[in-house]
Amino acid sequence: MGRDEKMPRHVAIIMDGNGRWAERHGLKRVDGHRRGAGRVFELMETVAELGIEYLTLYAFSTENWKRSPLEVQALMELLEESLNAKLPLMMEKNVRLKTIGRTEDLWPGVRAALLKAVKVTADNTGGTLVLALNYGGRAEIVDAAGRIARAVARGELKPESIDEPCFRRFLYDPELPDPDLMIRTSGELRLSNFLLWQLSYAELYATDILWPDFDGTALKEAVAAFGRRERRFGGRKK
Ligand code: FPP
Repeated sequence: MGRDEKMPRHVAIIMDGNGRWAERHGLKRVDGHRRGAGRVFELMETVAELGIEYLTLYAFSTENWKRSPLEVQALMELLEESLNAKLPLMMEKNVRLKTIGRTEDLWPGVRAALLKAVKVTADNTGGTLVLALNYGGRAEIVDAAGRIARAVARGELKPESIDEPCFRRFLYDPELPDPDLMIRTSGELRLSNFLLWQLSYAELYATDILWPDFDGTALKEAVAAFGRRERRFGGRKK
């Protein structure tokens, strides 16, 4: 039996609205991020239940360094702490962790926790959680172009053999299928430099729910909306 086309195999999410959530609850921005980080792991159950094989989350963009030093520090500390604290849960749920982005420039503690979790969970088979960290869509395309240029200079690649499948092999993780569904929380309608190459044919879904409130029911609603879309990939209506 083939896959049910009404179900997305890969869901990507821009987790937006942590700051506004905190403000509405009279809390600090960092408390919103903390609640948002908890949400990530609470969703794992529903992700498995829905048969979503890949979940990619925009956790820290190349632009997020522009936030206040205090907020950057809070995010780095939260990432390190969450990765360490949630590793046993990822093992229990059989989840494989992967990462995309210029992760070499993350704070050393985050990078160490990340590499450890990626390594320890590498053989898990119950779904893949991809964290986009220090990630930018343009940076990914630029990095791919640089690696292609170096491969050509070394004589390992002929310029005439550069086509779309070839280019894809130079992305951060060529194994990841393109997302079928991209969700953005908190009512914003922007791509914000997320997966620019990979989102070409993704269905887009926006909700006013702020990320810390985005629960399993909200995810099921987004997936149901995806099921009602007709995907044509540039072709004609069936
Ligand atoms: C956007 O909300 C959110 C971020 C920039 C950070 C997202 C990070 C997390 C949810 C933590 C991730 C942790 C793990 C372990 C994956 P915003 O601050 O821009 O919200 P606002 O627009 O309301 O101010």
